[in-house]
Amino acid sequence: MTTLLHMDASVRGERSLTRRLTRDFVEHFLAEAPGTRVLRRDLAATPPPFVDQDWITSSFTDPADRTPDMVRSLAASDELLNELEVADLLVLGTPMYNYGMPARLKAWVDQVIRVGRTFTFDLARGDYPLKPVLAGKKLVLLTSSGEFGFGPGEERSGMNHFDTHLAVLEGYLGIAERYHVAVEYQEFGDNRHAASVAEATRAVPLLARLAASFSPPRSGDADHKRP
Ligand SMILES: Cc1cc2nc3c(=O)[nH]c(=O)nc-3n(C[C@H](O)[C@H](O)[C@H](O)COP(=O)(O)O)c2cc1C
Repeated sequence: MTTLLHMDASVRGERSLTRRLTRDFVEHFLAEAPGTRVLRRDLAATPPPFVDQDWITSSFTDPADRTPDMVRSLAASDELLNELEVADLLVLGTPMYNYGMPARLKAWVDQVIRVGRTFTFDLARGDYPLKPVLAGKKLVLLTSSGEFGFGPGEERSGMNHFDTHLAVLEGYLGIAERYHVAVEYQEFGDNRHAASVAEATRAVPLLARLAASFSPPRSGDADHKRP
């Protein structure tokens, strides 16, 4: 049985394009794979806390030696990690904010990329001491931006710190396979935006069928090099 983690980061509620895309994707995926277990994480409704000094100290303390306060400081991280660990498929809807990911999504990333849970750290590995623990997950990334031209070789590619940042983090999130559908031109509200929305809307059911038909192996904890 597939476990699907349905995540949204947009703060725009019913007006959100990315929330509509994730809803559509999950609906179509469930039609293809009815036994799927769906976990829900709404990062706007319940923003993850920011990490702080207590969090860092606790995460680097051996679990057997943690005080009750330390255990408490990692409670939110544990909850988010428990969901991530069991998920085979992450469906993430997120806007671009200021050419990067929304703060709530970054807060989630900081909570779940944690020593001993998502990576191990060993200086014996030389210049790349971090090694991911998770593997074999699929990511369906459904994004929207107000402007356009953020793809490789396009006019704003140098301003894109959004899906490019997520791509760097994927090794630590255990992502083996990524699918990305992007809406652009939202701020222009013109024909180009309408065409972009129509294309994304058409792509989502096809993607749901594809994702439901393909299961990457849950293995391959390859060494991960930071760029
Ligand atoms: C705070 C904020 C910052 C934004 N920054 C950017 C940006 O840097 N580049 C861009 O193309 N669009 C930017 N946008 C536009 C959003 O990416 C766009 O409205 C998108 O459709 C929002 O996703 P949603 O419809 O799911 O809420 C920004 C919007 C907000 C509210």
